[in-house]
Amino acid sequence: MKDYIAANKDRFLAELFDLIRIQSISSKEEHKEDMYKAAEWVRDNLLKKGVDKAEVCDTEGHPVVYGEKIIDPKLPTVVIYGHYDVQPVEPLELWKSKPFEAEIRDGKIYARGADDDKGQMFMHFAAFEYMVKHDKLPCNVKFMIEGEEEIGSPSLGKFLTDNKEKLSGDVILVSDTAMLSPDTPSITTGLRGLSYVEVHVTGPNRDLHSGLYGGAVANPINILCDMISSLIDENGKITVKGFYDDVEDLSEEERSEMARAPFNEAEYKKSIDVKALHGEKGYSTLERTGIRPSLDVNGIWGGHTDKGAKTVLPSEAHAKISMRLVPNQNSDKITQLFKDHFLSIAPDHVKVDVEFLHGGEGYVSPVDTIAYQAASKAYETTYGIKPVPYRSGGSIPIISMFEQILGIKSILMGFGLETDAIHSPNENYPLAQFFKGMETIPYFYQYFTEDIK
Ligand code: BES
Ligand code: MN
Ligand code: MN
Repeated sequence: MKDYIAANKDRFLAELFDLIRIQSISSKEEHKEDMYKAAEWVRDNLLKKGVDKAEVCDTEGHPVVYGEKIIDPKLPTVVIYGHYDVQPVEPLELWKSKPFEAEIRDGKIYARGADDDKGQMFMHFAAFEYMVKHDKLPCNVKFMIEGEEEIGSPSLGKFLTDNKEKLSGDVILVSDTAMLSPDTPSITTGLRGLSYVEVHVTGPNRDLHSGLYGGAVANPINILCDMISSLIDENGKITVKGFYDDVEDLSEEERSEMARAPFNEAEYKKSIDVKALHGEKGYSTLERTGIRPSLDVNGIWGGHTDKGAKTVLPSEAHAKISMRLVPNQNSDKITQLFKDHFLSIAPDHVKVDVEFLHGGEGYVSPVDTIAYQAASKAYETTYGIKPVPYRSGGSIPIISMFEQILGIKSILMGFGLETDAIHSPNENYPLAQFFKGMETIPYFYQYFTEDIK
């Protein structure tokens, strides 16, 4: 594969850049057509790469692309999952180059989707092309590429239920996570779940003059701030009643096993330019993101936010709040607990409303499976060292649905880096990761097929 990459790298990059050019932002209504364009691009590219068939499947939301190459029904089947949708790009002024015109600087591809997930997904397309061309495909392959990951995959539960038969397979292979560092190959063995809500606090029936009324009428923004700050106590514990009821405590043994994952705190702080880290007492940074839940305000607004001063006591205040959950916590249950709690702490001078936006369940992947061992050997082959298992703080809601609805476990071979700035301005993906990923993937197919037979 190494020689094949060297001979074809410019074409691979040109193809990826074409996909990146399509502004497939799933959360924005005005990009609905781009979602179709991107899906069609994926279908056509899979056909060029050698699948027997590929199709764009409509859902209630954005389309899913399905493709397959069945070389022998008796052989195992690897299902590749990826997503062609991306996050919005604002604030535009912070980008050094245009977000949808990929640019290579200092050995990195800069663009929205360069890593998450167009770049990582494309490594699988390239690896597949190579295996087909060189008669090295050892098993059947199915591709399921969705366009709603960044909005919580709302239509995907139904899609999986309706297409159970079509999507049957032995393992789901995904590159949509990160590794610990460029020289620490790692396999993601955990993802967090998510409950995402928007809260609305309403005070007086209109914005009031802050001189005439100030001091006599409760200010919804002040109240919202009080309510929010009461959600986490001085030990970093979330105060929502019942929040921790289903959180699994790991044994000391499991925790010390986890602590073996290399982590450089100084570098971590430096990369995000903070002096000190902060979180739940009694847990390390990797534990805080890997095995403990968290609660964050994602945005807060109300009153006068334009330039200049305007003396108002606002009528409304709003915030978006996300809770990252650990396996065994249930997203619907946590949303209900949050609603009950948030309404219970609301003072009489305001009306409070909690709206559910989206959610999903976490995932833990066992390490004693054929798929994990095959992935481990694949990294060992290309990196020369055994990869470390580690639990990531991010979420991919469909991964738990694959298990619940299709009964298939996933293996998360991510080649992203923490420094890739996914979802942020100047998202990037190092070329070295892009090509190393392509090189590693065919070994997974080989070892997995050898061992499962
Ligand atoms: N690929 C990410 C998730 C991820 C990144 C996991 C790095 C582990 C390491 C995915 O596209 C993502 O952004 N997920 C969202 C889920 C949400 C919008 C429902 C997330 O985690 O915020
Ligand atoms: Mn992703
Ligand atoms: Mn993402």
